[in-house]
This record gives sequence, structure tokens and C-alpha cells, in this order.
Amino acid sequence: MKKNLLITGFSGFVAGSVIVHAVKDWQVHALDRIDAPNDQGEIKVYSLDLRDAKHLKALFKQIQPDVVIHTAAIADIDFCENNQELAEEVNVGGTSNLARLCNENGTRMIFCSTDTVFDGKKGFYSEEDQPNPINFYAETKVRAEQIVRKLVENSVVTRLSLVVGLPVLGIGNSFLARTIEQIKAGKSVKFPENEIRTPIDVITLGRAQVELAGSDFRGTIHLSGSDRLTRYDMARKIAKKLGFSPEMIIATNSNSMPGRAPRPNDASLNNSKAQRLLKTQMHTLIEGLELTLNFKREQQ
Ligand SMILES: NC(=O)c1ccc[n+]([C@@H]2O[C@H](COP(=O)([O-])OP(=O)(O)OC[C@H]3O[C@@H](n4cnc5c(N)ncnc54)[C@H](OP(=O)(O)O)[C@@H]3O)[C@@H](O)[C@H]2O)c1
Repeated sequence: MKKNLLITGFSGFVAGSVIVHAVKDWQVHALDRIDAPNDQGEIKVYSLDLRDAKHLKALFKQIQPDVVIHTAAIADIDFCENNQELAEEVNVGGTSNLARLCNENGTRMIFCSTDTVFDGKKGFYSEEDQPNPINFYAETKVRAEQIVRKLVENSVVTRLSLVVGLPVLGIGNSFLARTIEQIKAGKSVKFPENEIRTPIDVITLGRAQVELAGSDFRGTIHLSGSDRLTRYDMARKIAKKLGFSPEMIIATNSNSMPGRAPRPNDASLNNSKAQRLLKTQMHTLIEGLELTLNFKREQQ
């Protein structure tokens, strides 16, 4: 019989890839915040707001997960900055509700954190470097990381770089999908040239999360691609690869964009631990993009 895997954030960008890579070996149970659709094939889908500790507890008892992969969050950095109470409740409170249940039930927990826990002054961060968040979203993620480590002995904190790709199941937070739409509509798109990242494709990320669910690894691990480049260079490379004119990508400086919460300049992650410990290979930007495009073609 397959073991039970509970994934939060069913309609999210990252969860879609985790789910499609998990269904072969796991009985997947997925939580959606609102209006969950009916079960999708073998995937059991439930509606629940993670802030609702009472119902979460009842659901946990019903599902009895062996492993939880916690992707759900309010992941929009500017929204978090302007809605701090809600961001705290979901990103910290929701994680804490789950972590407590994992603790009580001896459940393994994989948590999705972010490269932006770092201040971006040094760059190429390893798992040993100390977080120093510079926006509220990242603050909530640091607090959530601490709760997971403290409450759940059998846990993994995965720090994700910027995730590139097209939505696999749901809609979610795919900047690539939004960019393609804008370019197709003849609009140029601005990308910061002061923000350095190590983007990871959503397919590799899904595979890595599922591998971690089934492994014995405990601790913190950085999941990122092997190319270290500015978001502007990244977008131009992607545009070229997709057959669009790179001239549609306009360089900007994120610090001069009014109303935008601060971002770390260089939040690039060192992925050598993941390269060493995981069977899942980390990829360059273009290799990762090809993986996501091929995956999409095979789905059609
Ligand atoms: N995408 C990236 O580039 C990136 C980079 C670094 C780290 N991360 C982290 O990776 C994780 C996944 O990101 P993503 O891009 O997949 O985000 P996403 O597409 O925005 O998905 C987030 C999911 O969380 C759900 N959610 C929000 N509030 C909730 C609540 N109160 N109760 C239950 N579910 C709730 C959302 O449901 P609704 O749609 O109904 O609101 C959505 O399904 C997040 O933890 C994010 O912080 C992402």
C-alpha cells in the first residue's frame, strides 16, 4: 500500500509539480485554501484554510500522513509587506499549526522556504550562512523555518531560488507565464538588473521535493539552479530561447520601483549540498527551461 503524502497549496505553482511527481509512489492528499475541486483521479483534494487549527487537526487525523510537504504560503512579497497581519497568520501561524501536528504524530515535514531569507549583500549563500531578512515576507519565512526546526525533529527546510516554468496543474505564481502573456500582447516587460538569482525550474524542484519526502535527510538544503545571473539577463535568455525578441525585456533597478518592498540584491544560492546528496540533478537555466517545455508538450 502507498504511504500518505499531504501537500499544502494544491492550486499553487510549486505544488502542481510536486503532485505530478508524487502520484506514482504516494497516495497524494492535497489541501486547497478554498473551493477545492473534487478529487482529481488518484489525488484526494480537501478545502481548508491553514489558519483553522481545529479543522486541520481533524483532517490530519483522518488522513494520517506519513509525510507533509508544506508549499502553501502568501508568496507575494509586496502583498506581504502591505498585509503583515495576514502574512504572519498564514506563513507563520499556518506553518506552526502544521508543525505542531507533525510533532504530535511523528510525521516527517518538508517546508518550502526562500532564497530571500538572506540580505543579498554576500551572494552565493550556503546552508551555513545566517539569514538576515530585509522584507516582511522573508521575516515570516525565517520565523516559520525556526518553528519547523524546533518542533519537528524529522524535518527538512528547503530554501528555493526563484522558480521558473509553466504551471503544471494549477495556476499559481508563475512569472514566466505572466511574462509570455505580456510579450504576446506586444508589451515589453521590465526585469531588475540589480537582482542576482540562481533560478530553478519547477520540474526539477518537484522531483527534488518528492525525493526528499522519501529520504532520510534532515536539516536545511538549498534547491537552486546552477546558473547565477541577474533577473534581467535571465529574462533575456528565456525570451531568446522561446523565440521572442530579447528587446522586449527592459532593464530596471528594483530599488527605484515605487511601492515595491525591498529585495536582496544577490540572493543566489550555492546548491553543492543538493548536488552532493540528491539523485535529482540541478540544472542550468536553459536545461531547466527545456525540461518544463518538454513536460508541457508531453501533457498536451
Ligand atoms: N515561486 C517562487 O519563485 C518561490 C521562490 C522561493 C520560495 N517560494 C516558496 O515556495 C512555496 C510555493 O510557492 P508558489 O510559487 O507555489 O506559491 P503560489 O503559487 O502563490 O501558491 C501558494 C499556495 O498557497 C495557498 N494558500 C495561501 N494562503 C493559504 C491559507 N491561508 N491556507 C491554505 N492555503 C493557502 C494558495 O491558495 P490560494 O491560491 O487559494 O490563495 C496557493 O495554492 C511558498 O512557500 C513560497 O514562499 C516560491
